[in-house]
Amino acid sequence: MANLMRNCRLLRPTLSLFRYDRGCSSLGPTSLMQRVQHKIDTKRQRALEGGGKHRIEAQHKRGKLTARERVNILVDPGSFIEYDMFAEHRCTDFGMDADDKKFPGDGVVTGHGLINGRIVYIFSQDFTVHGGSLSSAHARKVCKIMDQAMDVGAPVIGLNDSGGARIQEGVESLAGYADIFQRNVMASGVIPQISLIMGPCAGGAVYSPALTDFTFMVKDTSYLFITGPDVVKAVTQEDVTFQDLGGAKAHTSISGVAHGAFENDIDALLNLRDLYNYLPLSNRDAAPVMACDDPRDRIVPVLDTIVPPESNKPYDILDVVKATVDNRTFFEIMPAYAKNIVTGFSRMNGRTVGIVGNQPKVASGCLDINSSVKGARFVRFCDAFNIPIITFVDVPGFLPGTSQEHGGIIRHGAKLLYAYAEATVPKITVITRKAYGGAYDVMSSKHLRGDTNYAWPTAEVAVMGAQGAVKIIFRGTEEEVREAEEEYIDKFANPFPAATRGFVDDIIIPSTTRQRICRDLDVLASKHKENPYKKHANIPL
Ligand code: HXC
Repeated sequence: MANLMRNCRLLRPTLSLFRYDRGCSSLGPTSLMQRVQHKIDTKRQRALEGGGKHRIEAQHKRGKLTARERVNILVDPGSFIEYDMFAEHRCTDFGMDADDKKFPGDGVVTGHGLINGRIVYIFSQDFTVHGGSLSSAHARKVCKIMDQAMDVGAPVIGLNDSGGARIQEGVESLAGYADIFQRNVMASGVIPQISLIMGPCAGGAVYSPALTDFTFMVKDTSYLFITGPDVVKAVTQEDVTFQDLGGAKAHTSISGVAHGAFENDIDALLNLRDLYNYLPLSNRDAAPVMACDDPRDRIVPVLDTIVPPESNKPYDILDVVKATVDNRTFFEIMPAYAKNIVTGFSRMNGRTVGIVGNQPKVASGCLDINSSVKGARFVRFCDAFNIPIITFVDVPGFLPGTSQEHGGIIRHGAKLLYAYAEATVPKITVITRKAYGGAYDVMSSKHLRGDTNYAWPTAEVAVMGAQGAVKIIFRGTEEEVREAEEEYIDKFANPFPAATRGFVDDIIIPSTTRQRICRDLDVLASKHKENPYKKHANIPL
């Protein structure tokens, strides 16, 4: 009874409002509703038209899709639910209060949809409305879906195509960016965040993508930079094009800011759907397990002959990876950057795994500054989102030289070491050939809490290669040096020194690698390990 009374009290203002509306209007309730409905329809239609026909045509002429066309490709057909379609900016400066300067939705499409049946939150900036520039209303819309994504535990994908801060709104716009940055940081490690750059992204605006887990770009039509070519020219007298300064090639192969680039909008969005299938919705969720028609106990004969008998001869670690995983499928992360290490997602018996592998084909697979940072960031993503890590090791050590030392290889190499040491997810390591020096320790060794560490018969776990070692510790005739090298190879350049000490758990026939890893993943599925409590760790940045 008390509840009923309370409900009645709550209803009363609503009812009186309704009576007032009816009394003031010369129209009946039906025509009032019709009028409201007409207004809703008109606004909705205007929102759907973005910045208007000619701006949409201009967008298409540039080879770019509109914000809504992009969303429709990204999500399962008909699954997108849009929020805040009626949001408008409230700026009155510089004639912004004119009707033709107000667009329902205000330059960004936000909401949630499904990718292969799993929820995703999306914001898609609409370049046809004030160049996709970020107004206060635009920022609030983005923040709203980020907040809800955190509450429900679902990833956020941002489709970026924006001229940056809404110049007419000044500091309001800067505040909006900071509100987004703060949310990016709070969401880091809780929900996956992915940025796809599909047009301009300049100035401080670049820092939202930079804070997300993965940044992808569209070739030729997107660019990212702090300051554009004009400012560069004014400050440094350098002549540089938009693409050379901040295009997909620059960021995927030189700066490492972007994790991959795709041919066009459609290619990029379809690739994002692929990547999404590997990822859990949040750190509270497991990654999806797919039905697998590739036998878990498949013997892989090609692995028995992939590693050349000569220890200095290159081979492609991707051949090893693809032969081992389900159906040779591998979603490579940063394929064009620091190619001496390979990172990406695959599945083993339907389960998502993160793959890290030294690449003997490039710089003998040594670790340097860029490969350490690339590997570390990937390992940390996998660990944050409970994705087991499989590491293929063939590493001759860290790259020597003044450029590496002065560039801080000690500090940067420590990142990869730190990431592996900190990771508590299942860690399976396969030493295919060289595991030399400090790099042996770093690459998910037993000493860094590797769960299962294998060596192939071709493995050499040693402080360094025979020639280098003998040069340091031995003086003698040519014949004596050769003999010393043979002794060194016999003693160290094989898997036994590590195996006899339990530093590898087994020496396995390479062709059995897939079945061994699939079994290990079953066993390790219930692994539970926690690091000591801390406010946060202090990774060497
Ligand atoms: C308001 C903007 C805008 C902006 C573009 N437009 N950028 N409106 N604020 N930042 C509008 C234009 O007025 C135009 O409106 C429409 O968008 C398309 O722009 P065009 O210049 O015609 O397009 P295009 O030739 O393709 O050039 C795109 C562009 C250029 C390179 C992005 O618009 C540009 O340089 N914009 C300014 C970029 C910038 O300096 N932003 C601030 C960066 S600093 P109409 O009505 O004609 O369609 C920053 C700080 C963030 O963002 C700090 C965060 C901490």
